[in-house]
Amino acid sequence: MTFGSDILAQAEALSKFTEDAPRLTRTYLTPQHRAAGDFIRNLMREARMAADYDALGNVVGRYDASMPGAPDLITGSHMDSVRNAGKYDGLFGILSAIACVKDLARRGLRLPCNIEVVAFGDEEGVRFGSTLLGSRAMAGSFDPAWLERKDPRGITLRKALADFGCDPDGWRALDRRGQEVAAYIESHIEQGPVLLEEGLPVGVVTSIAGASRVRVTVTGLAGHAGTVPMGIRRDALTAASEMILAIESHCRSRAGLVGTVGKIEALPGAVNVIPQDVSFTIDLRSGTDAPREAAVEAVHVTLDAIAARRGVKLAWEQYFDSQAAPCNAALQAQLAQSIMRQGIKVRRLASGAGHDAMVFPPVCPTAMLFVRCGNGGISHHPDESLTAEDADIATRVLLDFLEHFVPA
Ligand code: HGY
Ligand code: MN
Ligand code: MN
Repeated sequence: MTFGSDILAQAEALSKFTEDAPRLTRTYLTPQHRAAGDFIRNLMREARMAADYDALGNVVGRYDASMPGAPDLITGSHMDSVRNAGKYDGLFGILSAIACVKDLARRGLRLPCNIEVVAFGDEEGVRFGSTLLGSRAMAGSFDPAWLERKDPRGITLRKALADFGCDPDGWRALDRRGQEVAAYIESHIEQGPVLLEEGLPVGVVTSIAGASRVRVTVTGLAGHAGTVPMGIRRDALTAASEMILAIESHCRSRAGLVGTVGKIEALPGAVNVIPQDVSFTIDLRSGTDAPREAAVEAVHVTLDAIAARRGVKLAWEQYFDSQAAPCNAALQAQLAQSIMRQGIKVRRLASGAGHDAMVFPPVCPTAMLFVRCGNGGISHHPDESLTAEDADIATRVLLDFLEHFVPA
């Protein structure tokens, strides 16, 4: 039975639920979220899971254990995307998990744990700037202040949840801390080149990089592009440009640290007006927390100095911080066993990308399985690619893991 070709066909079908065709963008609590969620809920029900939306719009499927009172094993990933995304980021982990349960159900097999498959509605945080919303609620780290966050059209998360048919205050009931959760395991595309370069279809994740995100606003003075002498300008965009290059050189000079300015807006945005208000985002990451936290401090100092020298004002708003998350050693070992039982060499590697898994260590032992990406490992891009063969192998590894799972 080739799990892989089914998964790729399902991912293809899900890619049609987009806000800006022909690009793939699917954000939280939109009609496209609903369409993809309904599609996934149907797949879960076809796999004989009890499935429905929870209070935050995640889709949760449950496949009961052989015995009542058994612990839960949670698996899954996210169904939302970045802008102009690929087809497999997040979705692979959901579809692979559903394929495993469907196969267990086909064989009439029940495991010592309840299997819970979760399709998280908001991992990327594109619409409200908040990320990992669903997984943080399950991990008990949801901040109710996020409910007042607004999207670019001024709609609050609270209203969007109500409009989606959810209970905005229902997040409290999702907290799984102190409950019988034996493990969280997430399969995900690698989103990098390591497995591809080493000719391996799967790998065991050792840790997940932490990330800090900052919104910077630079305020200068608008003026006529033709009449203001260069020497007296307070151009917010040239100041921001110097700041952005300073961030790049800071990160280039420190191994293991990565920095990205992914969004920038310059106002008033006219060809013949000196920019007055420029805002941009910074995303800083490292495999452990100390280098990233030091970089946040150092970059802030550097940007303040550039602003002072150029006579512009700087506003610095850190709006996101996630700690690096180690993956549970015992679960890593069980994943390694499953990979070896498929006759494949075991490769352990760190994740530079963030994932829903990163918030689960306070709740339960947590692990991740990576599957190889094609096209040089590109991701967060339409060229993101995955072969049916690798999807099949990774699903067989996950299925083997589930069937042999022993609580850590
Ligand atoms: O940003 C990340 O690492 C993930 O794709 N949300
Ligand atoms: Mn992503
Ligand atoms: Mn992802």
